[in-house]
Amino acid sequence: MVTEDFKRILVTAALPYANGPVHIGHMAGVYLPADIYVRYQRARKRDVKFVCGSDEHGVPITIRAMKEGISPQQVVDKYHTLIKESFEQMQISFDIYSRTSNQVHHQTAAAFFTTLYDKGLFEEKETEQFYDEKAKTFLADRYITGTCPVCANPNAYGDQCERCGSSLSPEQLIDPKSTLSDAIPVRRKTKHWYFPLQHYEPFLKQWILEGHKDWKNNVYGQCKSWLDNGLQPRAMTRDSNWGVSVPLPQAAGKVLYVWFDAPIGYISATKELTDKWADYWCSKDTKLVHFIGKDNIVFHCIIFPAMLKAHGDFILPDNVPANEFLNIEGEKVSTSRNWAVWVHEYLKDFPGCEDVLRYVLCANAPETKDNDFTWKDFQDRNNSELVSIFGNFVNRAMVLMHKLCNGKVPPLHAGILDDQDRTMMSEFEHCKNRVEELLEQYKFRDALFEIIDLARKGNRYLQEKEPWKKASAAAGQPISPENQQSIDNCLHICLQLTANLAILIHPFLPGTSRKILHMLKVVDKMLDWENAGKSKLLSVGYSLRAPELLFRKMEDAEIQQQIEKLKNNMIHPQDMAASGQPAPETQAPAPMVTKATIQFDDFAKLDLRVATITAAEKVEKADKLLKLEVDLGFEKRIIVSGIALHFQPADIVGKQVVVVANLAPRKMRGIESNGMILMAEDQAGRLHFVSPGTIIDAGSTVN
Ligand code: 2FM
Ligand code: ZN
Repeated sequence: MVTEDFKRILVTAALPYANGPVHIGHMAGVYLPADIYVRYQRARKRDVKFVCGSDEHGVPITIRAMKEGISPQQVVDKYHTLIKESFEQMQISFDIYSRTSNQVHHQTAAAFFTTLYDKGLFEEKETEQFYDEKAKTFLADRYITGTCPVCANPNAYGDQCERCGSSLSPEQLIDPKSTLSDAIPVRRKTKHWYFPLQHYEPFLKQWILEGHKDWKNNVYGQCKSWLDNGLQPRAMTRDSNWGVSVPLPQAAGKVLYVWFDAPIGYISATKELTDKWADYWCSKDTKLVHFIGKDNIVFHCIIFPAMLKAHGDFILPDNVPANEFLNIEGEKVSTSRNWAVWVHEYLKDFPGCEDVLRYVLCANAPETKDNDFTWKDFQDRNNSELVSIFGNFVNRAMVLMHKLCNGKVPPLHAGILDDQDRTMMSEFEHCKNRVEELLEQYKFRDALFEIIDLARKGNRYLQEKEPWKKASAAAGQPISPENQQSIDNCLHICLQLTANLAILIHPFLPGTSRKILHMLKVVDKMLDWENAGKSKLLSVGYSLRAPELLFRKMEDAEIQQQIEKLKNNMIHPQDMAASGQPAPETQAPAPMVTKATIQFDDFAKLDLRVATITAAEKVEKADKLLKLEVDLGFEKRIIVSGIALHFQPADIVGKQVVVVANLAPRKMRGIESNGMILMAEDQAGRLHFVSPGTIIDAGSTVN
């Protein structure tokens, strides 16, 4: 929908976890596009609010506190401050940067839970979960390590093996142990409150699949795949003493699940910001836009909207322009392996170069697919686009004006305007319209390229006009009136173009824009978007300041230093897991691109067969396991598979799958498993059967 249909816009940016600093992947994926969008909307004089804050609950924070021997509050205080400062220095212009450990948030989140509870929406369920008796805490899967049943890696995590990339459940690990102590996890009964997401499936299908075909392909596609696979009830409470306490007398020692409370943080932050918060959250003429990374899509497009719908008082997002991931030097960012470029470190290493990072991250933003950040590209874009195109144009216009027009905006002599002059001026408006169109569609890279292209056209225009030649033709003589008029026109147009560039680039590079305003001696008011496209922004005869360089060249040595720093600071996965260090929940280190090379003979040892699933049932006391009976043509056998969170038993009976038929038998939960089912795992972590394209005889070989 076009923005004009709305009276106000509420922009949220994912609340970063306060258990570490922010890196450039966060910036490129979430905060920079959100900031560009908001600055643009503000320049259009729209009523827009931009909210964010630290996500201060959740297991990774309590674990970090335990490891460092400090309180969770101390952990979040440290990182909240660091993150907030990084955002400020990067000129991310939140209207409020709040935090979820504060009172307003606790009250808002608890009240939200109570509303759903009073409506009788939660299902209470008792299940068994892993528990560390030494550390006296329940354990998320990631905090259990053991030997991988697939590749024998002794340091596999309870949800994934980082050596072979297999998706695991703790039951599958051989010799499991807690990462918090060396205790062997035991199973313990615990009661939780489940939100019945499956009841919202029809509504979500209608709202997203029918109503939001306008969403980005990557977002729509992920939603479709979740909805096609069917939704399951989700526990909205956890056993912990850090978080928002569950507001029920019978729930001592339980807190709200961090993904229940965090998005409510957007509402709490708006409450803190303005008394009129309800206008932004409860009124249909507000456009709500969530900027997030792709790992947050399900939470913002499916779970949170279902919660909002269940609550009943709130609007739903109009758009969720999620970005994909930014890799670094060809490898996935991994905070636990320290394979990241940290924003606070960049700011220290490159003082005064915030806009350069904003530029490179926007130019390389992973808008439609994962993208790569390399230091070489950072240098190239700075030197050849910011310095040689944008900075060079503004500098030449200013220097020539001082030299050939007495430091003042020269007049425009309408009578001698030629086609080149007219074409150049018509580009201002064309560029404004394009940028506007692209920003409304969340296409930030393309919008930025339009502006650079306008500067490029400015350089070409100056080059073709060569005003310096008209001045030097007079060598020692006064410049002829005709030549002076031609010089005036050229520089008048170049200065009006410079003013246009300041307006257009402002959402992207606010510091650069301000520097131009300073040189042009104009006030911030000029940055109103309605001024873009005009060719009479600067008054004739107005004297301007001396030029200052907008950007500096990046030297090879400083770039090389960054590459070395990145490599030297990397922690190797084996060191990490061996020391019992868990990776943060949402950022599993990247599995290797491929496993080590094997010989054909090794491959030939595998007996892969097509099998038909003839029966399936849940394994008692094991959330993730299904007991499958499969028909291999020549025999039927039992295979235990860790796929229970992905498939309902009834839905998979009759499916044809590929199995490793000669895998040594293994006992899981007391059941002997004879073989393994092959599964494909997509980027969102969902599993899909590997099946022949058409129904064929069970027992057929797969080579
Ligand atoms: O992925 C993350 O970093 C989460 N802390 C994002 C939370 S967004 C919102 F729901 F608060
Ligand atoms: Zn493995």
